[in-house]
Amino acid sequence: MKRPAHPDPYIAGVMLLSRISTQGRWGAEAARKYNEETKHSYVSIRTAPGFLDFANKPYPFKYYVGGEKSQLPDDFWKPSEDALRALSCRGSESAAAKALNTSLLSSLLYFTAGISRVERLGDRRVYFRVAPATGALYSTELYTVVGEVEGVSPGVYHFDPGEFTLHRLRRGDYRGVVARAAQDGGLSVSPVVIVFSAYGWRNAWKYRERSYRHWFWDGGAMLANSVAAVCSMGLNHRLFTGFVDEKLNELIGVDGLDEAAYAVLAVGYKDGLGRFDSADYGLGELEASPAPQRGKPHRYWLVTETHTATALHSEGDVVTWREAVKQLEDIGKDIRRLGIQTPMPGPATQSKTLWETILLRGSTRRFSRKSIDASQLSTILRHSFGPLNADFLPSPNHTLIRPHLIVNNVDGVPSGAYSYDPSTGNLILLKKGHFREAAGYLCLEQPLGRDAAVVFFNMADLDSVLRVLGGRGYRAVQLEGGIRLGRLYLSSYALGLGATGLTFYDDDCVEFFSPSSEGLEMITVVAIGHPDYSAKPGKIFTRALTHPAKAF
Ligand SMILES: Cc1cc2nc3c(=O)[nH]c(=O)nc-3n(C[C@H](O)[C@H](O)[C@H](O)COP(=O)(O)O)c2cc1C
Repeated sequence: MKRPAHPDPYIAGVMLLSRISTQGRWGAEAARKYNEETKHSYVSIRTAPGFLDFANKPYPFKYYVGGEKSQLPDDFWKPSEDALRALSCRGSESAAAKALNTSLLSSLLYFTAGISRVERLGDRRVYFRVAPATGALYSTELYTVVGEVEGVSPGVYHFDPGEFTLHRLRRGDYRGVVARAAQDGGLSVSPVVIVFSAYGWRNAWKYRERSYRHWFWDGGAMLANSVAAVCSMGLNHRLFTGFVDEKLNELIGVDGLDEAAYAVLAVGYKDGLGRFDSADYGLGELEASPAPQRGKPHRYWLVTETHTATALHSEGDVVTWREAVKQLEDIGKDIRRLGIQTPMPGPATQSKTLWETILLRGSTRRFSRKSIDASQLSTILRHSFGPLNADFLPSPNHTLIRPHLIVNNVDGVPSGAYSYDPSTGNLILLKKGHFREAAGYLCLEQPLGRDAAVVFFNMADLDSVLRVLGGRGYRAVQLEGGIRLGRLYLSSYALGLGATGLTFYDDDCVEFFSPSSEGLEMITVVAIGHPDYSAKPGKIFTRALTHPAKAF
């Protein structure tokens, strides 16, 4: 039977265009164009409109009316494993299938998206979360597809971090639908599957067209937390970015444009098990409806075009895309080793617990220029660029990211520009010198880049990624950039240091590291060092507000 067109003519038009247009392999050309047109430069920053319409600021939470909502417990389990160990697990080493319960699920949701600080800014309140996010705007929504969790009946639920509740959207076991959409049987037998989606307007309100990158950076930072939390539970996991978009969006009841699913985390993943061929896509209505959003959302054309063009439309597309991932084996082996190999000391093996680290984390607002030592840098590198169990990598030891760094002040490592080779753990000295002023300039002229001990510039060979993985690879590489950013934050805080994500002048960064960076594109930046003040740790807020909150 032919599916009816979307009732919103704008959405119907965009969807039709995405199916018939020739934008390269899975939207590769659209992704390339998006990346070019959303670059920051010295000139673009001075000519772009900067007005923020606070009267039209989106509400920071999504919540539902009707149906059944259940309160999650306050006294949930806390991940007390050493943070560094939790950051480095492969996600597939645990042989025993452990049982999940309400306490563990609440813990996972809290340490991924929970509220850890509430600050008053004039007559507004900002609800800061456990993971960093561009502009503290938090556009990611989480949905849990529950199969076997003691205390939670099978169903699809929306997680509300504000009231700390699960709102049921569908009753029954829908893991097979996710497994079928992602063409992976292991999803159908993972006790719970978390779907990450972005409500784009919440971030686009400030960042306009560049906000699409932020979906993945912010979501990646959250995933760094969730993956570490799942590891500390002794459960396996696997991250998916390849799925039939329309089916997953339909499952969680979103339109795929204003809000769209972009990643799936299988918790307690069982590789090679499970079936999905009989899963029924006939989904029916949701049990609850989202409360109407305040204000007037604005759609940004490049975001809409890129996300739509990079969709996978059929199960066949998903299978072909996943096959293509294997061709990435050869990419990355050609890391240019144009400088002087600089072996690093062994990494530290002990740090703070994961939950303490997550609550300690907050973006450093001012760095002192105090040095860190070589073993701290080595630890941060090892644990930030370690294994990642994701469907866009041929194996957990691969990475799409080519780390480059400016060392401003590290005892035992000469100041200068470096690249990092995760396969050897060595730094490669590209040029010696004092580059504090350059580091500040490259990070959009922010003193944080100048005063940090080290600034990481995570780049990628975007041409190769787009050639092999098509435009869908654009989503993957931005997401990996976000995960590496999240891990850089966590490993720094685990050692008692500070960190902050920073935005950047795209092409100037690439030029600075040339020729090592020739042909690469910028993905994310993180600065680390000693904060110039002592920050208070965050607290666990489980009932921070009742919707609709007045001040935000
Ligand atoms: C990808 C990314 C980029 C960021 N860029 C900047 C930046 O350019 N300048 C800045 O001061 N903070 C930046 N931040 C920090 C955010 O402003 C911060 O995460 C947010 O306000 C939430 O506060 P918290 O991290 O202390 O919880 C960035 C964060 C992320 C995740």
